[in-house]
Amino acid sequence: MDRERAYEILNKYVKGEDYILHSEAVEAIMRKLALKFDPSNEEVWGTAGLLHDLDEETVDWRNDMSLHGPASIELLKKEEFGNEIIYNAILAHNPINGYKAKSPIEICLLSADPMSGFIMGIAKGYPDKKLKSVKVSSILKRFKEARYCRSANREYMLAIEKLGLSLEEFATLALEALCEIDEKLNL
Ligand SMILES: [Fe+2]
Repeated sequence: MDRERAYEILNKYVKGEDYILHSEAVEAIMRKLALKFDPSNEEVWGTAGLLHDLDEETVDWRNDMSLHGPASIELLKKEEFGNEIIYNAILAHNPINGYKAKSPIEICLLSADPMSGFIMGIAKGYPDKKLKSVKVSSILKRFKEARYCRSANREYMLAIEKLGLSLEEFATLALEALCEIDEKLNL
């Protein structure tokens, strides 16, 4: 996988800075999860994370959520980039399109997507807005508050348990991954 080319494709179709940063945040978590579950394929896992929301600005997913995912695959095929593993992981991160996460990379992307936004949301709520101020215990506490950041799907985050990783272990790993790129994320 060519990270430079993947980043170029991302920037071709996604213009919003927040979406780009979200994509890089999910990439960082996926890379760290790869080291745990599939170390020889870190690049594939990272690419799936980086490109999972490629169609965010090109399809009308607000009207039809089932388009989100399949439309990204179309864009990637047009660009002659990616492979079936990446395509299926991207499909799996939005179960509304009908594809259910099965393999480790698929389950991890399903879980990493909401976890990235959840942790970044907690940091943004702090006076210093710093990821390094976030504690794993705060993530777990907020997780249990159903009304906090409702858009972060708790069920998707918990899917990681199917791979034998507890929510606490996952939150720890995800926080570490985000802290490593905190300057890039402006947090
Ligand atoms: Fe996403």
